[in-house]
Parts: sequence; structure tokens; C-alpha cells
Amino acid sequence: MPFVCSVCGYQWDEEREGAAFAGLPSSFACPSCGAPRSLFRREGEKQSAAKDGGLSPGQLAALCSYLARACGKQQRAGESMLYHEISRAFAGNVPTELDASMGRLSSLIAEGLTERIPAVRDAAVQAGDRGALRACEWSGRVTAELFRLLRRYREEGGAFLKKPVFVCRVCGFPYVGENAPEHCPVCRGPGWKFEEIEGRGAR
Ligand SMILES: [Fe+2]
Repeated sequence: MPFVCSVCGYQWDEEREGAAFAGLPSSFACPSCGAPRSLFRREGEKQSAAKDGGLSPGQLAALCSYLARACGKQQRAGESMLYHEISRAFAGNVPTELDASMGRLSSLIAEGLTERIPAVRDAAVQAGDRGALRACEWSGRVTAELFRLLRRYREEGGAFLKKPVFVCRVCGFPYVGENAPEHCPVCRGPGWKFEEIEGRGAR
């Protein structure tokens, strides 16, 4: 069974390549698209959330959607369209969340705040990557806000869902209120960068 790159589909056939996949160094990257070793799966193996450090289909869909938007901003319409297409393909592979309960959501947010974000922050500090450190700082503040909103929902119940929700298109900061704020409190982006979330029922 060959190992398949979950990003581009490149197949690492051990006989043809003359090397066992298990023996490849951690620095190995897909010869076709450059994806890291962790994104290869044995053919036929069901792709699941990233237990081994790789990205899940949902994360890849979000990443490609972000890249599509970034390409659009740089007037690269062709690349933007391709990233949108790849994003849609990954989105179609996102497994149905079996447990979408409030308890599960709370534990995911708590895990982000206490484990995942601190781990990324440590890695960014070690690598001296200021960009990643800033993204990590934003993620921490956005996740903390999600935690607060969840608590408000628990306290206020259905009435809370009738308020409009805006999300900063730069950093993902969520805001609940009648109008978007003048500036994003996390990334300092202007209010027009906020987008109202649709499909929340009647106000
Ligand atoms: Fe923001």
C-alpha cells in the first residue's frame, strides 16, 4: 500500500521509490507540493483529525480559504480561484461532528487556551518567529473572547442568539452587538473589516 500525500495526492510507492516511508527523515517533504511528512497517509487509511500533528480536512479547508483571500488581496485572481476550489474540496471531506454539544465546545475552547495556544507560543518563541508570535497572541485573545461569549449564551439563553454577531475578517475576533465596533480590540483593524454572520435566525 503506498503512502499518499493528503494535500496533492502524490503517492509514495516504497518499491518504486526504493525507500521505506517509515525510514524517511522528519524533514521529508512531498516531492510534488512540499507538504510535510505528517500529511501523508497510508492509502485507504481513513483521514481523521490530526492525532499525529497533521492538519485535519477542516483545518486545511480553512487554511486554503485564508490563502485564497490573501491571493485575492494581492490581485492574484487565478491562484485565489484555485485555493477556493481546494478549500471546497477539503470542506467536502470534513467528517460530521458527532458531539457538537456545548460541553464539547467548551472543552475544545479550554484546551485551546490551556494547551494548544501556549504550545504554539513556546514554539514561536524558540524559533524567534515574531509573525507567528503575533498570530498566537491574537488567537489567544480571540479564543478567550469565544469563551466569554459561550458563558453569556449560557447565562442569557435564547435571547443572546437574537443579537447580531460580527467577526473581524483580519483576526477572527467575534463581536456581539447592534453594530460592528469602530476598531477591532485585538488587531486594531477598522470597523469595516468586520463582517456580520448570517443565518442566525430572526433578530
Ligand atoms: Fe481583528
